[in-house]
Amino acid sequence: MLKDTSLNGKRVLITAGASGIGLVTARGFIEAGARVFICDVNAEALKLAQAALPGLQGCVADVADEAQVQAMFTKLDAALGGLDVLINNAGIAGPTALIGDLKREDILRTIEVNVVGQFLCAKHAVGHLRQGRGPCIL
Ligand SMILES: NC(=O)c1ccc[n+]([C@@H]2O[C@H](COP(=O)([O-])OP(=O)(O)OC[C@H]3O[C@@H](n4cnc5c(N)ncnc54)[C@H](O)[C@@H]3O)[C@@H](O)[C@H]2O)c1
Repeated sequence: MLKDTSLNGKRVLITAGASGIGLVTARGFIEAGARVFICDVNAEALKLAQAALPGLQGCVADVADEAQVQAMFTKLDAALGGLDVLINNAGIAGPTALIGDLKREDILRTIEVNVVGQFLCAKHAVGHLRQGRGPCIL
């Protein structure tokens, strides 16, 4: 039997979806018929993204903060009624300076967002994805 690869009606979460690659991805999924929910740490960017893409749902959340990630999934459930695709897009470039000039906290924030954030979103998505249609994490 052929796999259902259609995005039509798929429920998609894109982290850091209010600008850059996340926003372009949100637009593509919406154009393909998916229902998209984004989160972003930047409330102003979230507002602009929702104004630019009618139908786009979302909330403010920092992927490095577990309480915010949990709250995001509660809002996502209320908005989409489940999840089929997680796009774990959030990531930061981190500090750019000579290594000898960097402080411990500079690198810790990068690890929190890029590593812990990916983990937290995947961890809290899995229960929802197991109930989903053709679930996947990108
Ligand atoms: N742009 C590139 O050339 C490039 C290349 C390779 C990989 N990437 C990766 O692709 C992803 C997206 O890149 P981009 O260039 O679109 O990013 P970007 O720097 O343009 O940021 C996109 C969004 O991420 C949000 N964000 C930042 N920290 C967050 C957090 N803790 N929680 C929630 N949202 C947060 C920002 O508010 C912003 O709206 C990143 O993971 C990046 O590392 C980008």
